[in-house]
Amino acid sequence: MNKKNIVLIGFMGCGKSVIGSELAKNFSFSFIDTDYIIEKKLNLSIQDIFDKFGEPYFRKIETNVYANVSKFKNCVISTGGGVIKNSENIINLKKNGTIVYLKATPEKIYNNLKFDENRPLLKTQNKFNTICYLLNEREHLYNKYADLIFDINDESPFTLAKNIKNTLLK
Ligand code: S3P
Repeated sequence: MNKKNIVLIGFMGCGKSVIGSELAKNFSFSFIDTDYIIEKKLNLSIQDIFDKFGEPYFRKIETNVYANVSKFKNCVISTGGGVIKNSENIINLKKNGTIVYLKATPEKIYNNLKFDENRPLLKTQNKFNTICYLLNEREHLYNKYADLIFDINDESPFTLAKNIKNTLLK
């Protein structure tokens, strides 16, 4: 591995946080969850940030957080699903990190998030259709920015973390 951080990207509900914390353990790296940093910074949940200030404000804060965490070393960074919406985020994260895309089908994502109430963008009349719509809009960007891609549909987070580690160490 010639780069310092491992950066996980992917759609909401693909398992970035669970796989990321397992991967951090495997590498003895620190685990960083950028949504968590944003929540602590503003002392509000992601849902409340969207409700009170709107998505553009959230995206601005998010971009600042990515710029900051990009300077860290030896971290596994779990990003928000919208990280790919602003190329500046990826440019920063790539400077010091390998970008790993955790790829999931809309069905798998829906299954993981069907009872979730913490994703403001999915609070729509039809969650499955919204997932399909957003995934269709974003998928080419996840693919384009990824250094490595892992299909998460049929593997446990434990196995995935092991596979990712083995690939990165090759
Ligand atoms: C978002 C994903 C969320 C969070 C916010 C917006 C997105 O993070 O950053 O709700 O635009 O896809 P997760 O991917 O961790 O759910």
